[in-house]
Amino acid sequence: MNTEGGNWARWKRFFKARSERQLPTLFDPADYTGVPESVAQSLAIFQLGESGGGTIIEQARLSSIDEVDDHYVEALELFVKEEHRHAELLAICVRNLGGSLINSNWTASLFVFARRLIGLRLKVLVLLVAEVVGICYYQLLASRLPAGRHRSLLAQIVTDEHAHLRFHSSFLRTQTQTWWRRLIFTGAWRSATVAAAVVVYLDHRAAMRDLKLSPGTVWRRWMSFSRLAEDLVTDRRQPTFIDTVIREECRGPDSTVQIEFNTLSLAEDRPS
Ligand SMILES: [Fe+2]
Ligand SMILES: [Fe+2]
Repeated sequence: MNTEGGNWARWKRFFKARSERQLPTLFDPADYTGVPESVAQSLAIFQLGESGGGTIIEQARLSSIDEVDDHYVEALELFVKEEHRHAELLAICVRNLGGSLINSNWTASLFVFARRLIGLRLKVLVLLVAEVVGICYYQLLASRLPAGRHRSLLAQIVTDEHAHLRFHSSFLRTQTQTWWRRLIFTGAWRSATVAAAVVVYLDHRAAMRDLKLSPGTVWRRWMSFSRLAEDLVTDRRQPTFIDTVIREECRGPDSTVQIEFNTLSLAEDRPS
Protein backbone atom coordinates (compact mmCIF):
# COMPACT_ATOMS: atom_id res chain seq x y z
CA MET A 1 0.00 0.00 0.00
CA ASN A 2 1.43 3.39 -0.92
CA THR A 3 1.32 6.50 1.25
CA GLU A 4 -1.63 8.07 -0.60
CA GLY A 5 -3.84 5.04 -0.18
CA GLY A 6 -4.97 5.86 3.34
CA ASN A 7 -6.18 9.36 2.53
CA TRP A 8 -9.52 8.55 0.92
CA ALA A 9 -11.36 8.78 4.24
CA ARG A 10 -10.07 12.34 4.64
CA TRP A 11 -11.11 13.20 1.10
CA LYS A 12 -14.52 11.79 1.87
CA ARG A 13 -14.83 14.01 4.97
CA PHE A 14 -13.63 16.99 2.95
CA PHE A 15 -16.27 16.52 0.24
CA LYS A 16 -18.95 15.74 2.84
CA ALA A 17 -18.29 19.05 4.63
CA ARG A 18 -18.71 20.94 1.36
CA SER A 19 -21.88 19.06 0.39
CA GLU A 20 -23.90 21.02 2.98
CA ARG A 21 -23.69 24.26 1.02
CA GLN A 22 -27.00 25.78 -0.07
CA LEU A 23 -27.72 26.85 -3.63
CA PRO A 24 -28.09 30.62 -4.08
CA THR A 25 -31.37 32.13 -5.26
CA LEU A 26 -31.96 32.72 -8.94
CA PHE A 27 -32.40 36.45 -8.60
CA ASP A 28 -29.34 38.64 -9.16
CA PRO A 29 -29.76 42.43 -9.20
CA ALA A 30 -26.52 43.02 -11.15
CA ASP A 31 -26.80 44.33 -14.69
CA TYR A 32 -25.47 41.86 -17.27
CA THR A 33 -26.85 43.54 -20.39
CA GLY A 34 -23.30 44.33 -21.52
CA VAL A 35 -22.20 40.68 -21.40
CA PRO A 36 -22.07 39.16 -24.91
CA GLU A 37 -24.65 36.49 -25.78
CA SER A 38 -21.85 34.05 -26.61
CA VAL A 39 -20.91 33.87 -22.89
CA ALA A 40 -24.30 32.41 -21.90
CA GLN A 41 -24.06 29.95 -24.81
CA SER A 42 -20.58 28.95 -23.74
CA LEU A 43 -21.63 28.47 -20.09
CA ALA A 44 -24.62 26.40 -21.26
CA ILE A 45 -22.15 23.95 -22.86
CA PHE A 46 -20.19 23.72 -19.60
CA GLN A 47 -23.47 23.32 -17.70
CA LEU A 48 -24.21 20.24 -19.78
CA GLY A 49 -20.70 18.88 -19.22
CA GLU A 50 -21.05 19.24 -15.42
CA SER A 51 -24.30 17.24 -15.40
CA GLY A 52 -22.94 13.75 -16.17
CA GLY A 53 -20.23 11.49 -14.81
CA GLY A 54 -22.20 9.01 -12.65
CA THR A 55 -20.99 5.81 -14.36
CA ILE A 56 -17.51 6.13 -12.83
CA ILE A 57 -18.92 5.40 -9.36
CA GLU A 58 -20.14 1.94 -10.35
CA GLN A 59 -16.87 1.29 -12.16
CA ALA A 60 -14.88 2.21 -9.04
CA ARG A 61 -17.14 0.01 -6.91
CA LEU A 62 -16.34 -2.99 -9.13
CA SER A 63 -12.66 -2.13 -9.53
CA SER A 64 -9.93 -4.57 -8.47
CA ILE A 65 -7.29 -1.83 -8.19
CA ASP A 66 -5.60 -2.17 -4.76
CA GLU A 67 -5.83 1.52 -3.88
CA VAL A 68 -9.58 1.69 -4.54
CA ASP A 69 -11.52 1.08 -1.34
CA ASP A 70 -14.97 1.98 0.02
CA HIS A 71 -13.73 5.39 1.16
CA TYR A 72 -12.53 6.19 -2.35
CA VAL A 73 -15.88 5.15 -3.87
CA GLU A 74 -17.78 7.31 -1.37
CA ALA A 75 -15.43 10.26 -1.98
CA LEU A 76 -15.98 9.79 -5.70
CA GLU A 77 -19.74 9.80 -5.18
CA LEU A 78 -19.53 13.09 -3.26
CA PHE A 79 -17.25 14.50 -5.97
CA VAL A 80 -19.86 13.69 -8.66
CA LYS A 81 -22.54 15.37 -6.51
CA GLU A 82 -20.33 18.45 -6.29
CA GLU A 83 -20.05 18.51 -10.10
CA HIS A 84 -23.84 18.30 -10.33
CA ARG A 85 -24.01 21.27 -7.97
CA HIS A 86 -21.79 23.12 -10.44
CA ALA A 87 -24.33 22.30 -13.14
CA GLU A 88 -27.02 23.94 -10.99
CA LEU A 89 -24.86 27.00 -10.32
CA LEU A 90 -24.09 27.35 -14.02
CA ALA A 91 -27.78 26.99 -14.86
CA ILE A 92 -28.41 30.02 -12.62
CA CYS A 93 -25.67 31.95 -14.45
CA VAL A 94 -26.99 30.99 -17.90
CA ARG A 95 -30.55 32.07 -17.03
CA ASN A 96 -29.44 35.35 -15.46
CA LEU A 97 -27.34 36.11 -18.54
CA GLY A 98 -30.43 35.64 -20.72
CA GLY A 99 -29.35 32.30 -22.25
CA SER A 100 -31.05 28.91 -22.53
CA LEU A 101 -29.92 25.51 -21.27
CA ILE A 102 -29.08 22.85 -23.87
CA ASN A 103 -29.48 19.06 -24.05
CA SER A 104 -26.67 18.16 -26.43
CA ASN A 105 -23.36 19.48 -27.69
CA TRP A 106 -20.48 17.86 -29.59
CA THR A 107 -17.67 18.62 -27.09
CA ALA A 108 -19.78 17.44 -24.13
CA SER A 109 -20.60 14.26 -26.10
CA LEU A 110 -16.90 13.80 -26.86
CA PHE A 111 -15.99 13.92 -23.15
CA VAL A 112 -18.81 11.49 -22.33
CA PHE A 113 -17.63 9.16 -25.11
CA ALA A 114 -14.04 9.26 -23.81
CA ARG A 115 -15.17 8.59 -20.24
CA ARG A 116 -17.33 5.61 -21.24
CA LEU A 117 -14.80 4.05 -23.59
CA ILE A 118 -12.08 3.34 -21.09
CA GLY A 119 -11.12 1.90 -17.73
CA LEU A 120 -11.05 3.62 -14.35
CA ARG A 121 -7.49 5.00 -14.63
CA LEU A 122 -8.05 6.60 -18.02
CA LYS A 123 -11.47 7.78 -16.92
CA VAL A 124 -9.88 9.65 -14.02
CA LEU A 125 -7.31 11.06 -16.46
CA VAL A 126 -10.15 12.43 -18.61
CA LEU A 127 -11.73 13.93 -15.48
CA LEU A 128 -8.39 15.54 -14.62
CA VAL A 129 -8.32 17.13 -18.09
CA ALA A 130 -11.83 18.45 -17.42
CA GLU A 131 -10.61 20.02 -14.14
CA VAL A 132 -7.82 21.85 -15.97
CA VAL A 133 -10.38 23.06 -18.53
CA GLY A 134 -12.75 24.19 -15.77
CA ILE A 135 -10.16 26.01 -13.69
CA CYS A 136 -8.75 27.93 -16.67
CA TYR A 137 -11.98 28.74 -18.38
CA TYR A 138 -14.14 29.72 -15.38
CA GLN A 139 -11.29 31.78 -13.96
CA LEU A 140 -10.68 33.68 -17.20
CA LEU A 141 -14.39 34.17 -17.76
CA ALA A 142 -14.96 35.46 -14.23
CA SER A 143 -12.09 37.92 -14.57
CA ARG A 144 -13.95 39.52 -17.52
CA LEU A 145 -17.44 39.67 -15.98
CA PRO A 146 -18.74 42.71 -14.10
CA ALA A 147 -18.60 42.47 -10.30
CA GLY A 148 -21.63 40.59 -8.96
CA ARG A 149 -22.93 37.23 -7.95
CA HIS A 150 -21.78 35.48 -11.12
CA ARG A 151 -18.18 36.21 -10.31
CA SER A 152 -18.70 34.78 -6.83
CA LEU A 153 -20.39 31.68 -8.21
CA LEU A 154 -17.63 31.10 -10.73
CA ALA A 155 -15.05 31.75 -8.00
CA GLN A 156 -16.68 29.10 -5.88
CA ILE A 157 -16.60 26.63 -8.78
CA VAL A 158 -12.93 27.41 -9.50
CA THR A 159 -12.02 26.72 -5.86
CA ASP A 160 -13.92 23.42 -6.00
CA GLU A 161 -12.13 22.48 -9.24
CA HIS A 162 -8.75 23.12 -7.59
CA ALA A 163 -9.62 20.49 -4.97
CA HIS A 164 -10.89 18.13 -7.69
CA LEU A 165 -7.60 18.53 -9.54
CA ARG A 166 -5.76 17.42 -6.41
CA PHE A 167 -8.21 14.59 -5.72
CA HIS A 168 -7.76 13.06 -9.18
CA SER A 169 -4.02 13.71 -9.11
CA SER A 170 -3.85 11.82 -5.80
CA PHE A 171 -5.49 8.80 -7.40
CA LEU A 172 -3.31 8.88 -10.52
CA ARG A 173 -0.23 9.26 -8.33
CA THR A 174 -1.07 5.96 -6.66
CA GLN A 175 -1.17 4.40 -10.14
CA THR A 176 2.18 5.78 -11.33
CA GLN A 177 4.59 4.45 -8.75
CA THR A 178 7.12 3.09 -11.27
CA TRP A 179 9.12 5.06 -13.86
CA TRP A 180 7.54 3.30 -16.84
CA ARG A 181 4.01 3.97 -15.58
CA ARG A 182 4.93 7.64 -15.12
CA LEU A 183 6.25 7.67 -18.68
CA ILE A 184 2.98 6.24 -20.05
CA PHE A 185 0.98 8.70 -17.96
CA THR A 186 3.05 11.67 -19.17
CA GLY A 187 2.57 10.71 -22.84
CA ALA A 188 -1.18 10.14 -22.44
CA TRP A 189 -1.59 13.27 -20.32
CA ARG A 190 0.20 15.63 -22.71
CA SER A 191 -1.67 14.24 -25.73
CA ALA A 192 -5.03 14.52 -23.96
CA THR A 193 -4.48 18.08 -22.74
CA VAL A 194 -3.38 19.35 -26.16
CA ALA A 195 -6.34 17.61 -27.86
CA ALA A 196 -8.75 19.05 -25.27
CA ALA A 197 -7.27 22.54 -25.70
CA VAL A 198 -7.96 22.45 -29.43
CA VAL A 199 -11.50 21.08 -29.00
CA VAL A 200 -12.46 23.57 -26.27
CA TYR A 201 -10.97 26.47 -28.20
CA LEU A 202 -12.98 25.55 -31.33
CA ASP A 203 -16.22 25.24 -29.39
CA HIS A 204 -15.82 28.38 -27.25
CA ARG A 205 -13.91 30.69 -29.57
CA ALA A 206 -16.86 33.09 -30.00
CA ALA A 207 -17.07 33.77 -26.25
CA MET A 208 -13.27 34.07 -25.98
CA ARG A 209 -13.18 36.51 -28.88
CA ASP A 210 -16.09 38.57 -27.47
CA LEU A 211 -14.39 38.73 -24.06
CA LYS A 212 -11.10 39.69 -25.74
CA LEU A 213 -9.31 36.62 -24.45
CA SER A 214 -6.50 35.94 -26.88
CA PRO A 215 -5.63 32.31 -27.78
CA GLY A 216 -2.14 32.97 -26.34
CA THR A 217 -3.54 34.00 -22.94
CA VAL A 218 -5.79 30.94 -22.78
CA TRP A 219 -3.01 28.61 -23.97
CA ARG A 220 -0.44 29.86 -21.43
CA ARG A 221 -2.87 29.49 -18.54
CA TRP A 222 -3.88 26.07 -19.85
CA MET A 223 -0.30 24.88 -20.02
CA SER A 224 0.42 26.18 -16.49
CA PHE A 225 -2.36 24.13 -14.93
CA SER A 226 -1.60 21.18 -17.17
CA ARG A 227 2.01 21.22 -15.89
CA LEU A 228 0.80 21.62 -12.32
CA ALA A 229 -1.39 18.50 -12.64
CA GLU A 230 1.43 16.57 -14.29
CA ASP A 231 3.81 17.49 -11.46
CA LEU A 232 1.26 16.55 -8.81
CA VAL A 233 1.01 13.09 -10.37
CA THR A 234 4.61 12.40 -11.33
CA ASP A 235 6.91 14.60 -9.24
CA ARG A 236 7.98 12.61 -6.19
CA ARG A 237 9.03 15.81 -4.36
CA GLN A 238 5.46 17.15 -4.20
CA PRO A 239 3.89 17.25 -0.70
CA THR A 240 0.94 15.03 0.17
CA PHE A 241 -2.00 16.65 -1.59
CA ILE A 242 -4.51 16.26 1.17
CA ASP A 243 -2.38 18.61 3.31
CA THR A 244 -2.89 21.35 0.74
CA VAL A 245 -6.62 20.75 0.71
CA ILE A 246 -6.93 20.47 4.49
CA ARG A 247 -5.72 24.08 4.75
CA GLU A 248 -8.69 25.01 2.59
CA GLU A 249 -11.01 22.88 4.68
CA CYS A 250 -9.95 24.79 7.81
CA ARG A 251 -11.19 28.01 6.24
CA GLY A 252 -14.70 26.53 6.02
CA PRO A 253 -16.77 25.48 3.03
CA ASP A 254 -18.33 28.91 2.41
CA SER A 255 -15.06 30.84 2.39
CA THR A 256 -14.68 30.20 -1.32
CA VAL A 257 -17.36 32.80 -2.07
CA GLN A 258 -15.03 35.47 -0.73
CA ILE A 259 -12.40 35.06 -3.46
CA GLU A 260 -11.73 38.41 -5.05
CA PHE A 261 -11.39 38.03 -8.77
CA ASN A 262 -9.81 41.44 -9.20
CA THR A 263 -6.61 39.73 -8.12
CA LEU A 264 -6.71 37.47 -11.16
CA SER A 265 -4.33 39.10 -13.57
CA LEU A 266 -4.48 37.88 -17.12
CA ALA A 267 -0.80 38.67 -17.45
CA GLU A 268 -0.12 36.25 -14.60
CA ASP A 269 -0.11 32.85 -16.21
CA ARG A 270 1.20 30.80 -13.33
CA PRO A 271 -1.40 28.92 -11.27
CA SER A 272 -2.35 30.84 -8.12
FE1 LIG B 1 -17.13 21.25 -12.08
FE1 LIG C 1 -14.43 19.33 -11.16
